[in-house]
Amino acid sequence: MTNRITLCLAGFGNAAQAFCRLLLQQQQYLYEVHQVKVDVTAIASRSKGALFDQVGLDLSRALEEVAHHGMFSSDNPQLASLTTLGSIQQSHAQVLVELSTLSIENGQPAIQHIEEALRQGMHVITANKGPIAWDFRRLKELADQSGKWLLHETVVMDGAPVFNLVKETLPGCSVISFKGILNSTTNFILEEMETGRAYEDAVKEAQRRGFAEADPSLDVEGWDAAAKTSALLNVLMNGNITPPEILREGIMKISMEDVKAAQKKSCKIKLICEGWLENGQPRGRVLPLLVEKNDLFSTIDATSSILSVTTDLMGEICMVERHPEIEQTAYGIYSDLLTLIRKTSK
Ligand SMILES: NC(=O)c1ccc[n+]([C@@H]2O[C@H](COP(=O)([O-])OP(=O)(O)OC[C@H]3O[C@@H](n4cnc5c(N)ncnc54)[C@H](OP(=O)(O)O)[C@@H]3O)[C@@H](O)[C@H]2O)c1
Repeated sequence: MTNRITLCLAGFGNAAQAFCRLLLQQQQYLYEVHQVKVDVTAIASRSKGALFDQVGLDLSRALEEVAHHGMFSSDNPQLASLTTLGSIQQSHAQVLVELSTLSIENGQPAIQHIEEALRQGMHVITANKGPIAWDFRRLKELADQSGKWLLHETVVMDGAPVFNLVKETLPGCSVISFKGILNSTTNFILEEMETGRAYEDAVKEAQRRGFAEADPSLDVEGWDAAAKTSALLNVLMNGNITPPEILREGIMKISMEDVKAAQKKSCKIKLICEGWLENGQPRGRVLPLLVEKNDLFSTIDATSSILSVTTDLMGEICMVERHPEIEQTAYGIYSDLLTLIRKTSK
């Protein structure tokens, strides 16, 4: 018997569109291997408009309209005048996929979207790290109380399975610390500076290549890395921490002289995220540190990332994600969907 799973998407930017393309590509596989038909019944965005249809949206048309006109077309029969909360409430979907813009100040409105979805009896998949960095413990409790899943594999390293690594493949292990390079913009800027490029030019190049925002402060001041550190502490080390509680120093003060001085010592400067236990309490920091050239961390180039997790029983394990693109983000969201299918079909 074929089961039907219905999704409501909050946000229709790069990640949501890549996820929809992957869904279209994997339809046959989902049907044949998992006996599941996945329908997106609602999409809410901030400025592109909203779509709603209980029967299932025409995703190819939605993708085409946004590619050509930057928004859903006024003659799209599935166009709806719904707010994001309205879409979540009226979609009657089984799963909210939260892909709206990250708010580093407080994780909103994504936290509200997730709360509403759980209240409506929906499972939640989020790639938005805000809710996990700001309010994971409470949201997880809400999900547990309503017997629903809150999945978030994509929030730290796109599709690389950092949370599943610990949850699913290291039974009986506790994480006692971690260390990572988790922000691609700063990693790219520091690497460009090693080749002699000025800081300002490196920032402009990162913007031109599309991975730094017009306002790159979230990256260069270390906020994005702090949010990832907070999310890791909350999920892997049972923390209840928010990004401002992470000790944080960005890379804005790193000069060309600092980079050259590091090179003279056979080192590189990398923006390092760390988490550890202090008197049993999870603590975190983000700061530029010297890394020796023969250290695995110094090989993390351009937009690549690394996470090294130290556990009580299995020692240290490292995961490297090489040169991710938007397809790896889409895979992370899709992998959560497969996890959900597996967990709910038992
Ligand atoms: N891109 C990646 O590789 C990646 C990787 C891991 C995690 N993520 C996370 O995934 C999320 C989406 O990323 P993205 O790259 O797709 O960002 P994006 O291209 O900027 O898209 C964000 C989308 O969110 C929508 N939005 C903003 N506020 C909203 C609201 N209140 N209700 C409904 N929609 C709202 C925007 O609407 P409009 O289009 O109408 O403005 C846009 O469609 C972010 O939280 C990001 O941190 C992204």
